[in-house]
This record gives sequence, structure tokens and C-alpha cells, in this order.
Amino acid sequence: MSAHAADAARRISARDLRARKGREPIVCLTAYTTPMAEIMDEVCDLLLVGDSVGMVLHGLPNTVGVTMEMMILHGQAVMRASRRAMVVVDMPFGSYEASRESAYENAVRILKETGAQAVKLESGPEVAGTIAYLTRRGVPVMGHVGLRPQAVLMDGAFKARGRNAAEAACVMAEAKATVEAGAFCIVVEGVAEALATQITEMVRVPTIGIGASAGCDGQILVTEDMLGLFDWTPKFVRRYADLRGDIAKAVAAYAADVRSGAFPGVEETYFATAKG
Ligand code: KIV
Repeated sequence: MSAHAADAARRISARDLRARKGREPIVCLTAYTTPMAEIMDEVCDLLLVGDSVGMVLHGLPNTVGVTMEMMILHGQAVMRASRRAMVVVDMPFGSYEASRESAYENAVRILKETGAQAVKLESGPEVAGTIAYLTRRGVPVMGHVGLRPQAVLMDGAFKARGRNAAEAACVMAEAKATVEAGAFCIVVEGVAEALATQITEMVRVPTIGIGASAGCDGQILVTEDMLGLFDWTPKFVRRYADLRGDIAKAVAAYAADVRSGAFPGVEETYFATAKG
């Protein structure tokens, strides 16, 4: 077996994650780059190359403008550094809605060109047929219900869902349709605790919450949010670092050293040797 094949054999799989339901919390974070994936691979069960990359790294206002090429490039970067965690790549807006066949082609392209183990798509009854089509043809699918960021143009904003009975029934229907169609796992985003717990109890696959309480089988956050890279974070994010503050201090110190002539110093300078 080649080293590459051996690596693949050691990775956490969709089957492993399903077996954790109700037994062991599943630790997930987003990853978009090689150095970050290298650090996170040791401790995370699942790295999601989320289409949030468009907002986090590319300055887009939402995820609608994210392309297949962006997802593939970042998926490849994450796969280069990870060995242990399961890697899932988001299908961008417009890549899976038109037809089951085109969704299959795009999903297979993502899996082949990145080496990732699964794709994620924002799901509900309207794409259940597509999920079934993909999973029956060997494409593992992670669903995503509740707040679905790719619907921002219809919804007008990123809004928590399921706060009244009608909306809660709608989110339950999304989860049911997604799981019955064959998804191995679902992200549940931006819903109240009671609904997250109800969904988690209803479905046989793990639920991964983001802004969806401890009622889920696992948790995911956008890594840069929890590292404190931005000056604002949503209520459901806990900041584990102050990257923004640390970077600002480091950049200011560097600028001061360059301006004062303190950098580069003798330690950072090459000198010619005596022999020419
Ligand atoms: O794109 C993303 O990062 C996501 C997570 C927030 C679940 O979908």
C-alpha cells in the first residue's frame, strides 16, 4: 500500500462519525489553508472546507459568490496537511440545485480534485432527491439545515430559524428529508435548544451544531471566529484567542522596529564569509 493509501485508511470516516452518535461528542472546525489544517488535524474529528471561506478569507459579503474553483483550491490546501480528520468540502451555491446529474458531476469533481471524503450541501425536501442520487452513487453527503447561509438573498439576512411553531416544523422537515435521503450527518445552524434537541433525538445520524446549543451530537465553529480574528463575533461563538489583537500588536511592533532601524539586526543579517 502506498503512503497515500495508508493515510486514507487511517482517516476518520463517515461510518466512524455515525458510530459516535450519542456516545462521544464530535469536534469539528472549518479549515481553508494548509498551515491551519496542519494544526487542527491532531485534535479535530472533522475539518470542513466551508463556503464561509468566501467571507472569511476573500472579503465577500456572503457565500453566494463562492465558486467551485475556490472550493477545490482550498480543499486541496486542507487535504495536503491533514492526515487524521475527516475532510468535507462545501458545494457552493449554484453547483447542486439545477439537476441531480449536474450536482453529481460537481460533487465528483470536488472529491476527485481534492481527495476529500465527503461534500456538504444546504438541504431540505427540495434537494432530498439530489442527496439520494449522490449517496446511491457513492458520494457521502453531509446536510445543513436551519439557518442556511446560501439562502441569504431570499431571506434578506442571516437569521436564526425555528423560533415559532411553523418555522420549527419547517426545520424538522428539512432534517427528516435530509437524513431519509441518505446524508451521514447534518449541520444544524442557528436554531433554539429545544428544536436542536428534538432534531438530534429524531434522526439516526449525528447532528453538528453551530449556534444550535449543546443539544447536538457535535459542534462546529468558523475557526477564525473562535480565534478572535474579527472585531465582531455572533452570540454563539466563544473566543478562545485574540488573534486580531495579537496580530495588530505584532504588526505595530514590526513597523516601529523598521522605522527605528532596529530591524533587521545582526541576528537577522547574512554576512559575507572571508573566502570570496
Ligand atoms: O461554510 C461554513 O463554514 C459552514 C459552517 C458554518 C457550518 O457551513
